[in-house]
Amino acid sequence: MKRHVARILIILSLMMNLLCVIGAVVIVERRGGFPWLSRRVAELFRPTEAQLIRDDWQQPDRVISNLNLRQGAKVADIGCGEGYFTLRLAKSVGERGLVYAVDVDTRPLEVLKKQAEKEHLTNVVVVVSEPTDTKLQPECLDALFVCDILHEVPQAQRLPLLKSATRALKSGGFLYLIDWRKSRDITFDPYEKLIPRDDLVRICTDAGLLLEGEFHYLKYQVFLRFRKPIK
Ligand SMILES: C[S@@+](CC[C@H](N)C(=O)[O-])C[C@H]1O[C@@H](n2cnc3c(N)ncnc32)[C@H](O)[C@@H]1O
Repeated sequence: MKRHVARILIILSLMMNLLCVIGAVVIVERRGGFPWLSRRVAELFRPTEAQLIRDDWQQPDRVISNLNLRQGAKVADIGCGEGYFTLRLAKSVGERGLVYAVDVDTRPLEVLKKQAEKEHLTNVVVVVSEPTDTKLQPECLDALFVCDILHEVPQAQRLPLLKSATRALKSGGFLYLIDWRKSRDITFDPYEKLIPRDDLVRICTDAGLLLEGEFHYLKYQVFLRFRKPIK
């Protein structure tokens, strides 16, 4: 009996120690201490996008098919990250097409480059951009794809970024915008960061685009289609 109680006390004390270590790491991180370690700890308790299995709610094949891209089209994925959509776009436009994978951060672009090589996709061109400059040539694209980045961009930079992107579109070209719906049900980002649908529309129309269509099937996101007016 005594041995049994001792065992329980040891287990309890080990659990207390573990909780103390986790608590200390979180406190140190909040004060700017070990960002990498605390991110890993935070991920243990908060499901990441990957853990929620993005394909289930993102419906990437349906999204890509709604873009109606022709073989040989030239498109850009603005804020492409590690290329969740870029690689699908590259397959959709085929070998004669081209996908500019644009991001301000070089780290995800490196991951994307390796994955494109692994999948023998030779039509992906990586572009390191500036926060308000996509670095794309004017009027060179049939379509722009902008998924889950605007809420990450500081408010004052959103319109200049969209204007820079729009400049790269041919007249009559399309911009497809996907971003979180502003709702308390969305837990991927803090509510305060989410942009109301009408503000997303306003940014794009202020950048010179016309709202042409909207898709309503995505569980967590607004999905809008804009067109650059024909001159
Ligand atoms: C949440 S991730 C989305 C990645 C990808 N679009 C997707 O759907 O998986 C946001 C990405 O936008 C990039 N980003 C943020 N601000 C940007 C800007 N001003 N111009 C281009 N990329 C930007 C970040 O570096 C990051 O890779």
